[in-house]
Amino acid sequence: MKGMFLQLSRAIPPALRCGIHSGTRPVSTAASKKRVERLLTSEEIYAREGKHGAHNYHPLPVALERGEGIYVWDVGGNRYFDFLSAYSAVNQGHCHPKIIAALTSQASKLTLTSRAFYNDVLGAYAEYITNMFGYDKVLPMNTGVEGGETACKLARKWAYNVKGIPKNKAKIIFAEGNFWGRTMAAISSSTDPSSYEGFGPYMPGFELVPFNDIPALEKALQDQNVAAFMVEPIQGEAGVVVPDQGYLTKVRELCTKYNVLWIADEVQTGLARTGRRLAVDHEDVRPDVVILGKALSGGVYPVSAVLCDDEIMLTIKPGEHGSTFGGNPVACRVAIAALEVMEEEKLADNAQRMGEKLRAQLNKLPKDIVTTVRGKGLLNAVVIKETKGQPKKLGANSVKTMHKLMFHKDLALACRVTTTAAHKASLFTVFGTEVSEEEEAAGRRRRSGGRDVGLSLHCWMERRKKKKKNDQEKWDHNGSHRNLSLRPQNTERSFCMSYKRIQTELI
Ligand SMILES: Cc1ncc(COP(=O)(O)O)c(C=O)c1O
Repeated sequence: MKGMFLQLSRAIPPALRCGIHSGTRPVSTAASKKRVERLLTSEEIYAREGKHGAHNYHPLPVALERGEGIYVWDVGGNRYFDFLSAYSAVNQGHCHPKIIAALTSQASKLTLTSRAFYNDVLGAYAEYITNMFGYDKVLPMNTGVEGGETACKLARKWAYNVKGIPKNKAKIIFAEGNFWGRTMAAISSSTDPSSYEGFGPYMPGFELVPFNDIPALEKALQDQNVAAFMVEPIQGEAGVVVPDQGYLTKVRELCTKYNVLWIADEVQTGLARTGRRLAVDHEDVRPDVVILGKALSGGVYPVSAVLCDDEIMLTIKPGEHGSTFGGNPVACRVAIAALEVMEEEKLADNAQRMGEKLRAQLNKLPKDIVTTVRGKGLLNAVVIKETKGQPKKLGANSVKTMHKLMFHKDLALACRVTTTAAHKASLFTVFGTEVSEEEEAAGRRRRSGGRDVGLSLHCWMERRKKKKKNDQEKWDHNGSHRNLSLRPQNTERSFCMSYKRIQTELI
Protein backbone atom coordinates (compact mmCIF):
# COMPACT_ATOMS: atom_id res chain seq x y z
CA MET A 1 0.00 0.00 0.00
CA LYS A 2 2.89 2.36 0.64
CA GLY A 3 3.14 5.03 -1.95
CA MET A 4 -0.18 4.24 -3.60
CA PHE A 5 -2.37 7.17 -4.49
CA LEU A 6 -6.09 7.07 -3.91
CA GLN A 7 -8.76 9.70 -3.74
CA LEU A 8 -10.81 8.52 -0.81
CA SER A 9 -9.92 6.62 2.30
CA ARG A 10 -13.10 4.64 1.87
CA ALA A 11 -11.52 3.24 -1.27
CA ILE A 12 -9.37 1.05 0.95
CA PRO A 13 -11.36 -2.09 1.60
CA PRO A 14 -11.47 -2.76 5.36
CA ALA A 15 -10.57 -6.35 4.73
CA LEU A 16 -7.38 -5.40 2.96
CA ARG A 17 -4.66 -6.13 5.45
CA CYS A 18 -1.12 -4.89 5.38
CA GLY A 19 1.71 -4.60 7.88
CA ILE A 20 0.58 -3.46 11.26
CA HIS A 21 2.18 -0.05 11.10
CA SER A 22 2.32 0.45 7.41
CA GLY A 23 -1.22 1.63 6.85
CA THR A 24 -1.99 4.48 4.56
CA ARG A 25 -4.69 7.09 4.29
CA PRO A 26 -5.45 10.00 2.05
CA VAL A 27 -4.48 13.51 2.96
CA SER A 28 -4.92 16.84 1.32
CA THR A 29 -1.79 18.94 1.22
CA ALA A 30 -2.65 22.29 2.71
CA ALA A 31 0.01 24.09 0.71
CA SER A 32 -1.80 23.52 -2.55
CA LYS A 33 -5.06 25.28 -3.31
CA LYS A 34 -6.12 22.36 -5.42
CA ARG A 35 -6.95 19.41 -3.16
CA VAL A 36 -4.40 16.72 -3.74
CA GLU A 37 -5.30 13.47 -2.04
CA ARG A 38 -2.60 11.00 -1.36
CA LEU A 39 -2.10 8.14 1.00
CA LEU A 40 -0.11 8.56 4.17
CA THR A 41 1.65 5.72 5.87
CA SER A 42 1.13 5.27 9.59
CA GLU A 43 4.66 6.56 10.10
CA GLU A 44 3.84 9.70 8.16
CA ILE A 45 0.76 10.19 10.28
CA TYR A 46 2.84 9.96 13.45
CA ALA A 47 5.44 12.31 12.03
CA ARG A 48 2.93 14.94 10.94
CA GLU A 49 1.19 14.96 14.28
CA GLY A 50 4.54 15.12 16.04
CA LYS A 51 5.64 18.03 13.90
CA HIS A 52 2.53 20.17 14.18
CA GLY A 53 0.86 19.02 17.39
CA ALA A 54 1.88 19.72 20.97
CA HIS A 55 3.81 16.90 22.60
CA ASN A 56 1.54 16.54 25.59
CA TYR A 57 0.80 12.90 24.76
CA HIS A 58 2.95 10.02 23.67
CA PRO A 59 0.51 7.81 21.72
CA LEU A 60 1.08 4.18 20.98
CA PRO A 61 2.10 3.65 17.36
CA VAL A 62 -1.19 2.80 15.74
CA ALA A 63 -3.11 5.22 13.50
CA LEU A 64 -6.82 4.46 13.85
CA GLU A 65 -9.46 5.59 11.44
CA ARG A 66 -12.64 3.71 12.23
CA GLY A 67 -14.48 2.14 15.14
CA GLU A 68 -17.55 -0.01 15.58
CA GLY A 69 -18.66 -1.67 18.78
CA ILE A 70 -15.60 -3.00 20.51
CA TYR A 71 -13.44 -2.90 17.38
CA VAL A 72 -11.25 -0.25 15.87
CA TRP A 73 -9.45 -0.33 12.52
CA ASP A 74 -6.20 1.30 11.62
CA VAL A 75 -5.49 3.07 8.37
CA GLY A 76 -4.17 -0.14 6.86
CA GLY A 77 -7.42 -1.96 7.56
CA ASN A 78 -6.15 -3.98 10.54
CA ARG A 79 -8.81 -4.62 13.13
CA TYR A 80 -8.16 -4.42 16.86
CA PHE A 81 -10.08 -5.12 19.99
CA ASP A 82 -10.37 -1.85 21.84
CA PHE A 83 -9.60 -2.78 25.37
CA LEU A 84 -9.06 0.76 26.44
CA SER A 85 -12.44 2.02 25.22
CA ALA A 86 -11.25 5.59 25.68
CA TYR A 87 -10.89 5.10 29.42
CA SER A 88 -14.56 4.13 29.84
CA ALA A 89 -15.92 6.75 27.45
CA VAL A 90 -17.13 4.23 24.88
CA ASN A 91 -18.78 1.79 27.27
CA GLN A 92 -21.64 1.55 24.79
CA GLY A 93 -19.25 0.61 21.98
CA HIS A 94 -17.77 2.74 19.22
CA CYS A 95 -20.26 4.67 17.10
CA HIS A 96 -23.34 3.14 18.67
CA PRO A 97 -26.08 3.64 16.05
CA LYS A 98 -28.65 4.95 18.48
CA ILE A 99 -26.27 7.54 19.88
CA ILE A 100 -25.00 8.54 16.45
CA ALA A 101 -28.60 8.91 15.25
CA ALA A 102 -29.35 11.21 18.19
CA LEU A 103 -26.23 13.23 17.39
CA THR A 104 -26.89 13.63 13.70
CA SER A 105 -30.59 14.35 13.91
CA GLN A 106 -30.11 17.02 16.54
CA ALA A 107 -27.03 18.41 14.80
CA SER A 108 -29.02 19.14 11.69
CA LYS A 109 -31.73 20.90 13.68
CA LEU A 110 -30.17 23.01 16.43
CA THR A 111 -26.65 22.70 17.83
CA LEU A 112 -25.99 25.54 20.19
CA THR A 113 -27.88 28.43 21.64
CA SER A 114 -25.61 29.17 24.59
CA ARG A 115 -27.42 29.36 27.88
CA ALA A 116 -28.53 32.89 27.09
CA PHE A 117 -31.70 31.19 25.81
CA TYR A 118 -33.72 28.13 26.68
CA ASN A 119 -33.51 25.22 24.31
CA ASP A 120 -36.17 22.55 23.96
CA VAL A 121 -33.93 19.62 24.98
CA LEU A 122 -32.12 20.62 28.17
CA GLY A 123 -35.21 20.31 30.36
CA ALA A 124 -36.02 16.86 29.01
CA TYR A 125 -32.45 15.71 29.63
CA ALA A 126 -32.35 17.22 33.13
CA GLU A 127 -35.60 15.48 34.02
CA TYR A 128 -34.38 12.19 32.63
CA ILE A 129 -30.98 12.10 34.29
CA THR A 130 -32.13 13.38 37.67
CA ASN A 131 -34.92 10.79 37.77
CA MET A 132 -32.50 8.05 36.79
CA PHE A 133 -29.99 8.85 39.50
CA GLY A 134 -32.33 10.25 42.14
CA TYR A 135 -31.03 13.81 42.62
CA ASP A 136 -32.92 17.10 42.59
CA LYS A 137 -30.82 18.83 39.96
CA VAL A 138 -28.13 18.45 37.31
CA LEU A 139 -25.54 20.98 36.20
CA PRO A 140 -24.38 20.20 32.66
CA MET A 141 -20.77 20.71 31.62
CA ASN A 142 -18.59 19.22 28.90
CA THR A 143 -15.51 17.42 30.15
CA GLY A 144 -14.91 15.32 33.23
CA VAL A 145 -12.49 17.81 34.69
CA GLU A 146 -15.06 20.58 34.37
CA GLY A 147 -17.39 18.33 36.33
CA GLY A 148 -14.76 18.14 39.07
CA GLU A 149 -14.24 21.90 39.02
CA THR A 150 -17.98 22.40 39.26
CA ALA A 151 -18.21 20.04 42.23
CA CYS A 152 -15.41 21.92 44.01
CA LYS A 153 -17.10 25.26 43.40
CA LEU A 154 -20.40 23.90 44.67
CA ALA A 155 -18.66 22.54 47.76
CA ARG A 156 -17.07 25.91 48.52
CA LYS A 157 -20.34 27.81 48.02
CA TRP A 158 -22.17 25.33 50.19
CA ALA A 159 -19.43 25.62 52.81
CA TYR A 160 -19.87 29.39 53.07
CA ASN A 161 -23.61 29.66 52.57
CA VAL A 162 -24.87 26.57 54.38
CA LYS A 163 -22.22 25.09 56.64
CA GLY A 164 -20.97 28.49 57.77
CA ILE A 165 -17.25 28.06 57.16
CA PRO A 166 -15.49 31.46 57.37
CA LYS A 167 -14.85 33.17 54.03
CA ASN A 168 -11.98 31.68 52.00
CA LYS A 169 -11.23 29.04 54.61
CA ALA A 170 -12.99 26.07 53.03
CA LYS A 171 -10.93 22.94 52.48
CA ILE A 172 -11.53 20.00 50.21
CA ILE A 173 -9.96 16.65 50.99
CA PHE A 174 -8.79 14.31 48.22
CA ALA A 175 -7.36 10.81 48.26
CA GLU A 176 -3.75 10.23 47.33
CA GLY A 177 -3.47 8.75 43.85
CA ASN A 178 -6.54 10.65 42.66
CA PHE A 179 -6.89 11.68 39.04
CA TRP A 180 -9.57 14.03 37.86
CA GLY A 181 -7.99 15.83 34.95
CA ARG A 182 -5.40 18.40 34.02
CA THR A 183 -6.68 21.83 34.98
CA MET A 184 -4.85 23.90 37.57
CA ALA A 185 -7.26 22.79 40.29
CA ALA A 186 -7.06 19.13 39.31
CA ILE A 187 -3.27 19.03 39.28
CA SER A 188 -3.22 20.85 42.59
CA SER A 189 -4.71 17.80 44.27
CA SER A 190 -2.53 15.36 42.35
CA THR A 191 0.22 13.25 43.90
CA ASP A 192 1.65 12.39 40.49
CA PRO A 193 4.68 14.58 39.69
CA SER A 194 4.08 14.25 35.96
CA SER A 195 0.75 15.98 36.51
CA TYR A 196 1.83 18.83 38.75
CA GLU A 197 5.57 19.33 38.41
CA GLY A 198 6.47 22.70 36.91
CA PHE A 199 2.95 24.13 37.06
CA GLY A 200 2.91 25.74 40.48
CA PRO A 201 1.77 27.69 42.39
CA TYR A 202 -1.09 25.42 43.27
CA MET A 203 -4.68 25.85 44.41
CA PRO A 204 -4.87 26.44 48.16
CA GLY A 205 -7.38 24.68 50.37
CA PHE A 206 -6.78 21.19 49.00
CA GLU A 207 -5.55 18.43 51.29
CA LEU A 208 -4.79 14.75 50.95
CA VAL A 209 -5.45 11.58 52.86
CA PRO A 210 -4.38 8.09 51.84
CA PHE A 211 -6.98 6.24 49.78
CA ASN A 212 -8.86 3.48 51.56
CA ASP A 213 -7.79 4.75 54.98
CA ILE A 214 -10.79 5.44 57.18
CA PRO A 215 -8.94 6.54 60.36
CA ALA A 216 -6.94 9.10 58.33
CA LEU A 217 -10.13 10.35 56.73
CA GLU A 218 -11.88 10.70 60.07
CA LYS A 219 -8.98 12.69 61.45
CA ALA A 220 -9.04 15.04 58.47
CA LEU A 221 -12.81 15.53 58.57
CA GLN A 222 -12.69 16.70 62.19
CA ASP A 223 -11.35 20.02 60.94
CA GLN A 224 -14.37 22.38 61.03
CA ASN A 225 -13.27 24.03 57.80
CA VAL A 226 -13.56 20.93 55.67
CA ALA A 227 -16.29 21.34 53.09
CA ALA A 228 -15.98 18.13 51.09
CA PHE A 229 -14.22 14.85 50.47
CA MET A 230 -13.83 14.08 46.78
CA VAL A 231 -12.96 10.51 45.84
CA GLU A 232 -13.22 7.99 43.01
CA PRO A 233 -15.06 4.86 44.23
CA ILE A 234 -12.36 2.88 42.42
CA GLN A 235 -9.23 4.80 41.51
CA GLY A 236 -8.94 4.46 37.74
CA GLU A 237 -5.76 6.17 36.62
CA ALA A 238 -3.94 5.07 39.75
CA GLY A 239 -4.26 1.51 38.46
CA VAL A 240 -7.80 0.36 39.16
CA VAL A 241 -7.30 0.47 42.90
CA VAL A 242 -10.34 -1.08 44.56
CA PRO A 243 -10.91 -0.05 48.19
CA ASP A 244 -11.90 -2.53 50.88
CA GLN A 245 -15.50 -3.61 50.96
CA GLY A 246 -17.25 -1.20 53.34
CA TYR A 247 -14.97 1.77 52.60
CA LEU A 248 -17.67 3.69 50.75
CA THR A 249 -20.20 3.00 53.48
CA LYS A 250 -17.78 4.36 56.04
CA VAL A 251 -17.08 7.40 53.88
CA ARG A 252 -20.82 8.06 53.81
CA GLU A 253 -21.13 7.70 57.57
CA LEU A 254 -18.17 9.96 58.32
CA CYS A 255 -19.20 12.67 55.89
CA THR A 256 -22.67 12.70 57.46
CA LYS A 257 -21.22 12.71 60.98
CA TYR A 258 -18.92 15.69 60.31
CA ASN A 259 -21.30 17.58 58.01
CA VAL A 260 -18.96 17.28 55.04
CA LEU A 261 -20.10 16.77 51.45
CA TRP A 262 -19.13 13.50 49.84
CA ILE A 263 -18.30 14.06 46.18
CA ALA A 264 -18.07 10.83 44.19
CA ASP A 265 -16.04 11.17 40.99
CA GLU A 266 -17.76 8.58 38.81
CA VAL A 267 -16.34 9.93 35.56
CA GLN A 268 -14.48 6.69 34.88
CA THR A 269 -16.26 4.23 37.18
CA GLY A 270 -19.79 5.30 36.35
CA LEU A 271 -22.34 4.27 33.78
CA ALA A 272 -22.17 0.49 33.89
CA ARG A 273 -18.43 0.01 33.74
CA THR A 274 -18.05 -1.67 37.11
CA GLY A 275 -21.16 -3.82 36.91
CA ARG A 276 -23.55 -1.26 38.37
CA ARG A 277 -24.93 2.00 37.07
CA LEU A 278 -22.63 3.77 39.50
CA ALA A 279 -19.74 2.17 41.36
CA VAL A 280 -21.18 3.46 44.65
CA ASP A 281 -24.19 1.20 44.01
CA HIS A 282 -22.00 -1.76 44.94
CA GLU A 283 -22.38 -0.60 48.55
CA ASP A 284 -25.78 0.94 48.05
CA VAL A 285 -24.68 4.34 49.29
CA ARG A 286 -25.61 7.79 48.08
CA PRO A 287 -22.98 10.51 47.69
CA ASP A 288 -24.02 14.14 48.12
CA VAL A 289 -22.53 15.05 44.76
CA VAL A 290 -21.93 12.77 41.76
CA ILE A 291 -19.74 13.70 38.81
CA LEU A 292 -20.34 11.94 35.49
CA GLY A 293 -18.56 12.26 32.14
CA LYS A 294 -17.00 10.04 29.50
CA ALA A 295 -19.68 7.40 28.75
CA LEU A 296 -22.40 9.98 29.36
CA SER A 297 -22.08 10.55 25.63
CA GLY A 298 -20.93 7.06 24.63
CA GLY A 299 -17.72 8.72 23.51
CA VAL A 300 -19.21 10.74 20.68
CA TYR A 301 -19.20 14.19 22.22
CA PRO A 302 -17.81 15.81 25.39
CA VAL A 303 -20.64 15.69 27.94
CA SER A 304 -20.29 15.83 31.71
CA ALA A 305 -22.71 16.42 34.54
CA VAL A 306 -22.82 17.14 38.23
CA LEU A 307 -25.77 15.80 40.19
CA CYS A 308 -26.81 16.91 43.66
CA ASP A 309 -29.78 18.13 45.68
CA ASP A 310 -31.14 21.67 45.92
CA GLU A 311 -29.44 22.50 49.21
CA ILE A 312 -26.12 22.31 47.38
CA MET A 313 -27.00 23.11 43.78
CA LEU A 314 -29.00 26.23 44.48
CA THR A 315 -26.10 27.88 46.27
CA ILE A 316 -24.79 28.77 42.82
CA LYS A 317 -26.74 31.66 41.33
CA PRO A 318 -27.08 32.87 37.73
CA GLY A 319 -23.78 34.10 36.36
CA GLU A 320 -21.66 32.32 38.95
CA HIS A 321 -20.84 29.25 36.90
CA GLY A 322 -21.41 27.86 33.43
CA SER A 323 -20.04 27.11 30.01
CA THR A 324 -20.94 28.12 26.46
CA PHE A 325 -21.39 24.51 25.39
CA GLY A 326 -22.70 22.98 28.62
CA GLY A 327 -26.29 21.80 28.21
CA ASN A 328 -26.41 22.38 24.46
CA PRO A 329 -29.13 20.53 22.54
CA VAL A 330 -26.76 18.10 20.83
CA ALA A 331 -25.09 17.18 24.13
CA CYS A 332 -28.46 16.68 25.81
CA ARG A 333 -29.86 14.45 23.04
CA VAL A 334 -26.65 12.44 22.93
CA ALA A 335 -26.63 11.98 26.71
CA ILE A 336 -30.25 10.80 26.78
CA ALA A 337 -29.47 8.27 24.05
CA ALA A 338 -26.29 7.10 25.80
CA LEU A 339 -28.16 6.54 29.07
CA GLU A 340 -30.99 4.77 27.26
CA VAL A 341 -28.52 2.40 25.61
CA MET A 342 -26.98 1.66 29.00
CA GLU A 343 -30.40 0.66 30.32
CA GLU A 344 -31.85 -1.04 27.25
CA GLU A 345 -28.80 -3.18 26.63
CA LYS A 346 -28.30 -3.96 30.32
CA LEU A 347 -24.67 -2.97 30.12
CA ALA A 348 -24.17 -3.07 33.87
CA ASP A 349 -25.33 -6.69 34.09
CA ASN A 350 -23.12 -7.60 31.17
CA ALA A 351 -20.09 -5.95 32.76
CA GLN A 352 -20.76 -7.69 36.07
CA ARG A 353 -21.10 -11.11 34.51
CA MET A 354 -18.23 -10.86 32.09
CA GLY A 355 -15.96 -9.29 34.67
CA GLU A 356 -16.41 -12.22 37.02
CA LYS A 357 -15.49 -14.66 34.29
CA LEU A 358 -12.56 -12.63 33.15
CA ARG A 359 -11.04 -12.30 36.60
CA ALA A 360 -11.55 -16.00 37.26
CA GLN A 361 -9.56 -16.77 34.13
CA LEU A 362 -6.94 -14.09 34.65
CA ASN A 363 -6.34 -15.54 38.08
CA LYS A 364 -5.10 -18.70 36.40
CA LEU A 365 -2.13 -16.87 34.94
CA PRO A 366 1.22 -17.75 36.49
CA LYS A 367 1.56 -15.86 39.74
CA ASP A 368 5.23 -15.20 39.15
CA ILE A 369 4.22 -12.98 36.25
CA VAL A 370 0.75 -11.69 36.95
CA THR A 371 0.99 -10.97 40.64
CA THR A 372 -2.42 -9.37 41.15
CA VAL A 373 -5.76 -9.37 39.39
CA ARG A 374 -8.25 -6.84 40.66
CA GLY A 375 -11.28 -4.85 39.60
CA LYS A 376 -15.04 -4.77 39.45
CA GLY A 377 -17.19 -5.48 36.44
CA LEU A 378 -15.14 -4.71 33.38
CA LEU A 379 -12.81 -2.23 35.02
CA ASN A 380 -9.91 -4.48 35.87
CA ALA A 381 -6.21 -4.50 36.43
CA VAL A 382 -3.49 -7.05 36.19
CA VAL A 383 -0.26 -6.26 37.93
CA ILE A 384 2.67 -7.59 35.94
CA LYS A 385 5.89 -8.28 37.74
CA GLU A 386 8.88 -6.51 36.33
CA THR A 387 11.37 -9.16 35.36
CA LYS A 388 13.97 -7.27 33.47
CA GLY A 389 16.51 -10.04 33.72
CA GLN A 390 14.35 -12.56 31.84
CA PRO A 391 13.84 -11.18 28.39
CA LYS A 392 11.90 -14.14 27.02
CA LYS A 393 9.11 -14.02 29.55
CA LEU A 394 5.86 -12.16 29.45
CA GLY A 395 6.89 -10.13 32.45
CA ALA A 396 10.09 -9.02 30.83
CA ASN A 397 10.18 -5.42 29.87
CA SER A 398 6.52 -5.59 30.58
CA VAL A 399 5.35 -2.25 29.33
CA LYS A 400 6.63 -2.96 25.84
CA THR A 401 5.34 -6.49 25.98
CA MET A 402 1.84 -5.44 26.89
CA HIS A 403 1.82 -2.83 24.21
CA LYS A 404 2.60 -5.53 21.73
CA LEU A 405 -0.24 -7.60 23.08
CA MET A 406 -2.53 -4.64 22.89
CA PHE A 407 -1.89 -3.82 19.32
CA HIS A 408 -1.77 -7.13 17.62
CA LYS A 409 -5.05 -8.27 16.29
CA ASP A 410 -3.56 -11.71 16.25
CA LEU A 411 -3.00 -12.71 19.82
CA ALA A 412 -0.99 -15.73 18.80
CA LEU A 413 1.50 -13.49 17.09
CA ALA A 414 1.75 -11.34 20.18
CA CYS A 415 2.32 -14.39 22.32
CA ARG A 416 4.92 -15.80 20.02
CA VAL A 417 6.82 -12.60 20.02
CA THR A 418 6.68 -11.97 23.68
CA THR A 419 6.27 -15.09 25.72
CA THR A 420 7.66 -18.51 26.26
CA ALA A 421 5.55 -21.46 25.21
CA ALA A 422 4.32 -21.98 28.75
CA HIS A 423 3.08 -18.46 29.04
CA LYS A 424 1.49 -18.59 25.65
CA ALA A 425 -0.45 -21.62 26.77
CA SER A 426 -1.60 -19.79 29.88
CA LEU A 427 -2.82 -16.88 27.87
CA PHE A 428 -4.82 -19.10 25.62
CA THR A 429 -6.36 -20.73 28.64
CA VAL A 430 -7.38 -17.36 29.87
CA PHE A 431 -8.89 -16.21 26.66
CA GLY A 432 -10.24 -19.44 25.39
CA THR A 433 -12.70 -20.90 27.84
CA GLU A 434 -16.20 -21.02 29.11
CA VAL A 435 -18.64 -19.62 26.69
CA SER A 436 -22.00 -21.17 27.24
CA GLU A 437 -24.13 -21.99 24.22
CA GLU A 438 -26.60 -19.45 25.43
CA GLU A 439 -23.99 -16.73 25.52
CA GLU A 440 -22.65 -17.70 22.17
CA ALA A 441 -26.11 -17.51 20.72
CA ALA A 442 -26.67 -14.15 22.37
CA GLY A 443 -23.37 -12.97 20.96
CA ARG A 444 -24.39 -14.12 17.51
CA ARG A 445 -27.74 -12.45 17.77
CA ARG A 446 -26.11 -9.22 18.73
CA ARG A 447 -23.63 -9.52 15.91
CA SER A 448 -26.31 -10.27 13.44
CA GLY A 449 -27.97 -7.07 14.56
CA GLY A 450 -24.77 -5.36 13.57
CA ARG A 451 -23.81 -4.33 17.10
CA ASP A 452 -21.33 -5.31 19.72
CA VAL A 453 -22.74 -4.69 23.14
CA GLY A 454 -20.01 -6.17 25.30
CA LEU A 455 -18.03 -3.70 27.29
CA SER A 456 -14.33 -3.90 26.92
CA LEU A 457 -12.12 -3.51 29.91
CA HIS A 458 -9.11 -1.79 31.20
CA CYS A 459 -6.17 -3.72 32.36
CA TRP A 460 -3.41 -1.90 34.00
CA MET A 461 0.13 -2.56 34.71
CA GLU A 462 1.81 -0.81 37.47
CA ARG A 463 5.36 -0.17 38.22
CA ARG A 464 6.80 1.41 41.25
CA LYS A 465 8.13 4.75 40.32
CA LYS A 466 10.92 6.16 42.33
CA LYS A 467 9.50 8.65 44.76
CA LYS A 468 10.70 11.99 43.60
CA LYS A 469 12.42 14.27 46.00
CA ASN A 470 10.18 17.10 45.00
CA ASP A 471 7.00 15.30 46.05
CA GLN A 472 7.38 16.68 49.48
CA GLU A 473 8.38 20.10 48.24
CA LYS A 474 5.20 20.33 46.25
CA TRP A 475 3.03 19.63 49.18
CA ASP A 476 4.98 22.02 51.31
CA HIS A 477 3.85 24.96 49.21
CA ASN A 478 1.18 25.50 51.78
CA GLY A 479 2.03 24.42 55.28
CA SER A 480 -1.16 22.48 55.75
CA HIS A 481 0.10 19.61 53.63
CA ARG A 482 3.25 19.11 55.57
CA ASN A 483 2.00 16.40 57.85
CA LEU A 484 0.46 14.29 55.17
CA SER A 485 2.48 11.28 54.23
CA LEU A 486 2.99 10.68 50.55
CA ARG A 487 3.28 7.25 49.10
CA PRO A 488 5.33 6.39 46.05
CA GLN A 489 3.19 6.67 42.99
CA ASN A 490 2.19 3.80 40.83
CA THR A 491 2.41 4.33 37.16
CA GLU A 492 0.53 2.25 34.75
CA ARG A 493 0.10 1.48 31.16
CA SER A 494 -3.15 0.35 29.88
CA PHE A 495 -3.63 -2.52 27.58
CA CYS A 496 -6.85 -3.81 26.49
CA MET A 497 -8.70 -6.83 25.46
CA SER A 498 -12.22 -7.56 24.72
CA TYR A 499 -13.05 -10.64 26.59
CA LYS A 500 -16.22 -11.60 24.83
CA ARG A 501 -14.83 -11.14 21.36
CA ILE A 502 -11.62 -12.92 22.14
CA GLN A 503 -13.62 -15.79 23.52
CA THR A 504 -16.08 -16.04 20.75
CA GLU A 505 -14.10 -15.09 17.72
CA LEU A 506 -10.40 -15.45 18.17
CA ILE A 507 -10.17 -18.82 19.75
C1 LIG B 1 -11.94 9.70 37.51
C2 LIG B 1 -11.74 10.77 36.49
N1 LIG B 1 -12.23 12.00 36.72
C3 LIG B 1 -12.09 12.98 35.82
C4 LIG B 1 -11.42 12.78 34.64
C5 LIG B 1 -11.24 13.90 33.66
O1 LIG B 1 -12.05 13.74 32.55
P1 LIG B 1 -11.76 14.57 31.22
O2 LIG B 1 -10.51 14.05 30.63
O3 LIG B 1 -12.98 14.36 30.37
O4 LIG B 1 -11.62 16.01 31.62
C6 LIG B 1 -10.88 11.52 34.37
C7 LIG B 1 -10.16 11.26 33.11
O5 LIG B 1 -9.58 10.24 32.87
C8 LIG B 1 -11.05 10.48 35.31
O6 LIG B 1 -10.55 9.26 35.10
